[in-house]
Amino acid sequence: MAGARKARPVSRAALAGEADPRLVALSVSIQDDGALYAEDVRGSQAHVSMLARQGIVPKAVARRLVKALDRVRAEFAAGRIAFDPALEDVHTHVERRLGELTGKDAGYLHAGRSRNDQVGLDERLFIVGACGRTGAALARLQRALLGQARAHERTLLPGYTHLQRAQPVSLAHHLLAYVEMLGRDRARLAEVKARAAVSPLGSGALAGTTLRLDREAVAASLGLAGVTRNSLDAVSDRDSAIELLFAVALSAVHLSRLGEEIVLWTTREFGFMTLDDAFATGSSLMPQKKNPDVGELARGRAGRAIGDLVTLLSIVKNLPLSYNRDLQEDKRPLLSGPDALILTTDALAGAVETATYHADRMEAALGGGEALATDVAEYLVERGVPFRQAHEAVGAAAKLAARLGKPLAALTAAEWRALHPRFEKDVLRCFDARRSLRRRELPGAPGPKAVRGELRRWEKALRSGS
Ligand code: ARG
Repeated sequence: MAGARKARPVSRAALAGEADPRLVALSVSIQDDGALYAEDVRGSQAHVSMLARQGIVPKAVARRLVKALDRVRAEFAAGRIAFDPALEDVHTHVERRLGELTGKDAGYLHAGRSRNDQVGLDERLFIVGACGRTGAALARLQRALLGQARAHERTLLPGYTHLQRAQPVSLAHHLLAYVEMLGRDRARLAEVKARAAVSPLGSGALAGTTLRLDREAVAASLGLAGVTRNSLDAVSDRDSAIELLFAVALSAVHLSRLGEEIVLWTTREFGFMTLDDAFATGSSLMPQKKNPDVGELARGRAGRAIGDLVTLLSIVKNLPLSYNRDLQEDKRPLLSGPDALILTTDALAGAVETATYHADRMEAALGGGEALATDVAEYLVERGVPFRQAHEAVGAAAKLAARLGKPLAALTAAEWRALHPRFEKDVLRCFDARRSLRRRELPGAPGPKAVRGELRRWEKALRSGS
């Protein structure tokens, strides 16, 4: 480590003494929790400043420690802290470096604190930040989807159920479905953040401390809303981490569904969408290939995200109170999950923003009128026919059309009339998909007015950042 005064081993390291290298190799976590250095330093600065205000640590010492901690953070950021397996984790690395910088002053820092409540705080600070970053990335993808939705208010395509053409919708309505999902994801992250934002410091190893700490002041100085209410729970609770990984996993599942549609829609068979070259990949073998890796990776990443959540649930499930070392294993899933989601989200946003959607192919898929069969049944309902009877009549029409070898829309008024006496000539108007959509204006429906209302609502919400 650079510029070292005489290194003072922290007591834990001394306790570890001559640990067998095989135990050291198993125990070390700095390669994962090193990512928490900024949170660890922030927590330590808040803690030592409070210790000084409470008269537990001399004020001048606290000031020196806060300043030296700034330097430790900068050294971590610059990659200038050498990782030493014997020092185990980020907490010990920070404290050791502080010792090198400030000599025996560093020994004041850990009063009334344990690594157990310390790691709990670091993780909560990380979770609060991760919720914000992840939510912002999801909002960027919402904006990309919304931009295309606005451009395709009038583009019609079949909506699908069972991956079979079902009823017409606008592309705007289809894309807005993803905007909705991501909106729920962001609301969920905001709730996770609010629950995570309490400070466990003062819980000590498990049973608090005899020192007169000011827990609320530490929480407030870290921008947290309050303090945990039970020391045993506080040092062993990983609910916020689990909730974050659930929120991440569910978002990843939403992105995976979008990814799957990109894969389908860019096939020659569908032909609904072309990715910009910058968001597609070639094959190392087949020169004609343009591959939708962005969608495939979104699907694959979701598998990882689900695994991360299950990992963390499994780590916690059999733990007796309070802290157990098993909990150290939460670092890799917790610390890598949100960033993986952000990478996927940003790549998908770019892919959506730059993609070309093929309105002609989409509208061609509506040809034949099969997607309007329900409208014909509802035509009869509006004329007093019980729905089941209407359904049967249109079913018979579909069979007749198939037998005659023509699309449903090509049946003549006379043919319709023969199927049910309530059919009039105007039944043929049902086969106008735009007219069909104009008649679907209930809240949440794909009618053009309803969709325009949703576009406006989301544009306003995303401008104001909510
Ligand atoms: N690296 C540890 C973890 O993440 C910190 C807490 C260690 N506490 C202990 N008593 N060994 O869980």
